[in-house]
Amino acid sequence: MKIELASSYGFCFGVKRAIEIAQKYENSATMGPLIHNEDEINRLKKDFNVGLYSQLSDVKPDDTVIIRTHGIPKNDLKELKKGVKKVINATCPFVTTPQNIVKNMSKDGYSILIFGDIEHPEVKGVKSYASDLDDVHVILCPEDLKNVKFKNNKIACVAQTTKKKETYLEIVNALILKNKEVRVFNTICDATFENQDAARDISKKADIMIVIGGKSSSNTKQLHSICLENCKNSYLIENENELESSWFINKNYCGITAGASTPDWVIQKVIDKIKSFKP
Ligand code: F3S
Repeated sequence: MKIELASSYGFCFGVKRAIEIAQKYENSATMGPLIHNEDEINRLKKDFNVGLYSQLSDVKPDDTVIIRTHGIPKNDLKELKKGVKKVINATCPFVTTPQNIVKNMSKDGYSILIFGDIEHPEVKGVKSYASDLDDVHVILCPEDLKNVKFKNNKIACVAQTTKKKETYLEIVNALILKNKEVRVFNTICDATFENQDAARDISKKADIMIVIGGKSSSNTKQLHSICLENCKNSYLIENENELESSWFINKNYCGITAGASTPDWVIQKVIDKIKSFKP
């Protein structure tokens, strides 16, 4: 069986940067998981003693706390800065951008529309930068627009970095038909595009696709759904332990892709295990 990696996969710039920061600050702790990959978080704990806090009330005054790639809400950041010795911001610059857009456009009197998942930490953080929290609206699809009531007649739109650009366009098209002024900011991250395009290409050729990444990672789930569109034997796994040899029976071409938070060493272990299966 041929095993091939997508032409673009795995770690993005923001995740590489966050991991480098965490490795530099040994004995620190992150506020929420640094990235969406448990194996890598465990490695950082083991090799660099980087701990993990799930809530603000857990931090201690002597701590050095690292803000994760997805960012945290504005008020949490303020409180954290008051409560600990040092705060290191590892928020991806591509996430800081929509935070700043929301802050500035909201200050300029625009209603804010965020295309994203309201429960996602990145969206919670971006939303928190609006000056009027009652006029910032989060939607997942164009149909959700019918429940949105804007306070102003000018609207600014941003998207969660990992969302599909096609759906964003549908939302923006629907908005422009009913509103006088719509400012659209393309805040979708290129790393996501590149991994998605490469996953689309390889899944058209493969008869089995393995998508490696955290099950709670939005961009990994997105890759899985793209692969499923083209290859019905597409499996989402976090690591090699979830592989089942029966998936590979009578398969000739295995494509592999990985989410933006998946380290190369996890990918390699998956490849090694697939190779160990008897044909
Ligand atoms: Fe940043 Fe894009 Fe990665 S937003 S964390 S570079 S997927």
